[in-house]
Amino acid sequence: MITRQQLIKKYIDFFKSKGHKEIPNSSLIPENDPTVLFTTAGMHPLVPFLLGEKHPLGKRLVGMQKCIRTGDIEEVGDEVHHTFFEMLGNWSLGDYWKEDAIKYSIEFLTKELKIPKEKISVTCFKGDKDAPKDTESAEVWKKDGIKKVKFLSKKDNWWGPAGKTGPCGPDTEMFVNNVEIWNDVFMQYHKDANEKYLPAKQKNIDTGMGVERTIAVLNNLKDNYLTECFKPIINKIEELSKKKYTNYKKEMRIIADHIKSAVFIINDGITPSNTEHGYILRRLIRRAIRYGQSLDIRENFTSRLVDSIIEIYSDYPELSKKRNELITELDREENKFRQTLERAINIFERLTKDKKEISCKDSFLLYQSYGFPVEMIEEECKSRKIKFSRKEFENECKIHQELSRTAAEGRFKSGLADNSKATTRLHTASHLLLAAIRKVFNDKDNSIHQKGSNITAERLRFDFNFPRKLTENELKEIEKEVNSNIQKGCPVIRKEMPLEEAKKKGITGVFEHKYGDVVSVYTIGECSKEICTGPHVKNTCELGKFKIIKEESSSSGVRRIKAVVE
Ligand code: ALA
Repeated sequence: MITRQQLIKKYIDFFKSKGHKEIPNSSLIPENDPTVLFTTAGMHPLVPFLLGEKHPLGKRLVGMQKCIRTGDIEEVGDEVHHTFFEMLGNWSLGDYWKEDAIKYSIEFLTKELKIPKEKISVTCFKGDKDAPKDTESAEVWKKDGIKKVKFLSKKDNWWGPAGKTGPCGPDTEMFVNNVEIWNDVFMQYHKDANEKYLPAKQKNIDTGMGVERTIAVLNNLKDNYLTECFKPIINKIEELSKKKYTNYKKEMRIIADHIKSAVFIINDGITPSNTEHGYILRRLIRRAIRYGQSLDIRENFTSRLVDSIIEIYSDYPELSKKRNELITELDREENKFRQTLERAINIFERLTKDKKEISCKDSFLLYQSYGFPVEMIEEECKSRKIKFSRKEFENECKIHQELSRTAAEGRFKSGLADNSKATTRLHTASHLLLAAIRKVFNDKDNSIHQKGSNITAERLRFDFNFPRKLTENELKEIEKEVNSNIQKGCPVIRKEMPLEEAKKKGITGVFEHKYGDVVSVYTIGECSKEICTGPHVKNTCELGKFKIIKEESSSSGVRRIKAVVE
């Protein structure tokens, strides 16, 4: 028997013993990668460093990263798919390459986890017009006694880029009892906006081991939901529904998975809404509620799963600190959704009164404008003997989807490599902005903090604690202060120091972030000193003119500024 926390510790300790430095588990909302909504892999926080920026902790890194993947949300319900999962990873930033990466993997699997070599099988990239067959990896595996090696195509043995462009390359995947648990990616290409795979400037190793799957395999469980990563949530759902997991596996898995994701997303500062992150969060919560209905749970239940999630993840102390907020947000959304459903049923009844059939236009209206889930339209029709064609409904959806996808693609229109300069500039501008806010409000003891940051190639968005709306005048002064520091041409200097030392010196960082033992402190001229991973420009004169485009409320006691540099 091996526990989740034991596996994580073993992995981190092993790679530390091989000269790796531990990086913190970052927010689910990527700060360094505007091409994705959520952190989908351990590499997102590292993107600027995979592209060649110097990482403050060196060239060998190890860590555990929480991730959200909603791409195959429809797959959730089987034994192995999740929207929230944890990923262990080790990275080489232009340091060791294929042979060492594979050797480390073999040593960890066989010596540390004590998995017999015969139980391990691997796959390698079989080659195509973009990149050659990866015989080199296969040779290393075979030489070290892993005999079951298969070659597969790009569909299976290639990873990245995470957005439309960026670092990527062939990978080699490790299976135990036919379950894929680990993946070593050889990031030696860069996919550009013309879909060309160009050789990368720096060759990196990026690996990912799924914690839930590995725990299941090591404990001889065929179902990830029976591991400690899910069991307490499943138990609670059984209790609330008075039903047995063995009879309702799919429903209970979906509920457990989605509410766990929701809890972690709320924990990272998102609330349900109709756009971007908030929309995904809303979708997860509502989908879980729908499956709750098929278990005949009639009362609010999502918030009653919070304690079991806090219990599983005791190594995330921030969850129990935010317990009330988590419960409130889930309850609020559940109430809202129940109201929506009630209204939708009324409309449904009006639309289908004296009718034997519901048109696809009407069903689409119910779905799109009244938030009525299609499964529920189907059920209502069935129980009232009204004809409904799911196929026609889906065709109608497709037409609408095509239209909205064209709009959504705007988000990814230019890739990260091309954007990294712009985001780096805005990142430095965010530091200047915080410094200016503190100066304008004469905040000598730095009680104003960053509460959130989101940077795209186009703009920065910066949240900070402040009790009221800022006046026009105050915004002008802040703008002026930032621009004056840009014009001064202040050098931006990075210095490493132990976290404790930085704290003692009164240097602030982002409260909610977990930092490693050694941190980078970025000093901008005389005006700003912050703990931060970077990257930043070398001199503020690279920034151009700073302009605030919006100031608004973000949540209670938190203001939000959107700004650009031109
Ligand atoms: N980034 C790689 C993955 O997610 C390691 O599998």
